[in-house]
Amino acid sequence: MIVGSGAAGLLLALRCASHGRSVVLATKGTVGESNTAWAQGGVAAALDLEEDSAFAHFTDTLAAGAGLCDERAAAVVAAEAPERVEELRRMGVPFDLTVGGGLELTREAAHSRARVAHSADATGHAIATTLIARTLRHPHVTLLERATAMQLRVDGGVCRGALLLSDGAPLIVSARSATVLATGGCGRIFARTTNPPAATGDGLSLALRVGARLADLEFVQFHPTALALEGAPAMLVSEAARGEGAILTDLCGRRFCFDEDPRGELAPRDVVARAIWHELQKRSSHHVLLDMRPIGSPDMVRMRFPNIAEACARYGIDIGDAPIPVSPAAHYHMGGIVSDLWGRTSVPSLYALGECACTGLHGANRLASNSLAECLVFASRAAEDIGAMQSPPEKSTSLAGYHPSDAIFAPEHRHAIADTMWQAAGVERDGPSLTTAASSLSNWPTPGAPLASESLEGHALLTAARLIAESALLREESRGSHFRRDFPKRDDSRWQQRIVWDSKGHSLQPIAGLRER
Ligand code: FAD
Ligand code: SIN
Repeated sequence: MIVGSGAAGLLLALRCASHGRSVVLATKGTVGESNTAWAQGGVAAALDLEEDSAFAHFTDTLAAGAGLCDERAAAVVAAEAPERVEELRRMGVPFDLTVGGGLELTREAAHSRARVAHSADATGHAIATTLIARTLRHPHVTLLERATAMQLRVDGGVCRGALLLSDGAPLIVSARSATVLATGGCGRIFARTTNPPAATGDGLSLALRVGARLADLEFVQFHPTALALEGAPAMLVSEAARGEGAILTDLCGRRFCFDEDPRGELAPRDVVARAIWHELQKRSSHHVLLDMRPIGSPDMVRMRFPNIAEACARYGIDIGDAPIPVSPAAHYHMGGIVSDLWGRTSVPSLYALGECACTGLHGANRLASNSLAECLVFASRAAEDIGAMQSPPEKSTSLAGYHPSDAIFAPEHRHAIADTMWQAAGVERDGPSLTTAASSLSNWPTPGAPLASESLEGHALLTAARLIAESALLREESRGSHFRRDFPKRDDSRWQQRIVWDSKGHSLQPIAGLRER
């Protein structure tokens, strides 16, 4: 049973089905609703072996991760991402090609080479559409849309499926081999985010409730350039724009990124996001400007970034002719459910893949476009592992401790949580704000266990928010995406380790050994 229809869930469903497994793929919206479908820049993979290598990709990943990456995960992704991109290409994903017919690769921040395969500025949509078409055709896949996983089923410590709310009615799905969480990220716990509405971190609380371990929760990536216009959503303006020459300026046209880092606009995301943040504080302004005009002629800019052009045009901005007002927004969660090189979690038969998982690949900061690569690589590895599993006979299992109530987690609570997190656990954090936020989130009034999908999301948001705030408070240093004004330096002597949570509380663990069962 797979929960979630993003890149990770879809590729896994296809692979397991082709191994002859019967797959139930449940997703809480329609099959096309996911962060994957919104991905713009592309998939990172060392595909041009004259200019690039898996080792260079591995090295860039570790540098971005600021000392907390799991090197085994980084090595696996660097080595296997090229095969996964070629596989997608064979399946029909319309990647942009050079005149010679090879993959056209672009550069994004903190990559030492151009290594991002893309389909204009809508790579995620191209991947999702291709995978969905194949998944829907496969006779071994049963797709359940509008089916929200509310609780995992566990028998004798082994995960055996989930209770879903399917079109409003409870439905128990028994899994005879694996149950897989591929539920994506939790950007919606922040008031300003590039993520779609479904990104409420459900997988984290589902996994925690059955005893799985979570790690690296304090590390949230803030994308530097999301549209910043009154009344408009914080729509992403791809980093590929800066990779291809776009510049960031203040409202008077001055480039300010070089004040903080010699790599300017192509410094790692956390550095650029903070440079913008400082600029906003200094000038008490609401946005800076992303100028795409240095990329080329107006037509060329509009052609290379057609979806961004169209979306900006809706707000009266012609990206070929005028700069875009932007500011940072929550974008990606590096933390998640601890999983090993095969996607296994600490609960037998429960797997976690994609953004909801924490393989350790990203450490304290994700290298751009490594997320889709991670989804594809680990989905493929998990399929191999699951393919080799024995399926025991079905037994009836209980949903211990599940006492549903129809109390509603009111929408205004969700907004208040998101405001709290944006203020206290956003681009810059400090002890006093995090203490206040963590205490208010711990004492938040919570109705009983959720019976409505919205309530499950409310509970999930609250759990993720509380654990992120508490982890950020514990980590008294600055590293990667986690910046503490009161501890502005990296402190390897105390913090070259991870904060790991389970249902009993947190512990500190060295990087190696995290994924032991
Ligand atoms: P998702 O694609 O988020 O899918 C999660 C699925 O789980 C959804 O279908 C959701 O409905 C479902 N779900 C969640 N909870 C439940 C539940 N309780 N029950 C049932 N179903 C549930 N990364 C890159 O590498 N390159 C990029 O260019 C890039 N661009 C991005 C642009 C944007 C605007 C955003 C938001 C992210 C971008 N990322 C990019 C990050 C990347 O898109 C995501 O990390 C990745 O797609 C996550 O894939 P996933 O399969 O783990 O989850
Ligand atoms: C982007 O296109 O800037 C997003 C890429 C990513 O999140 O990896």
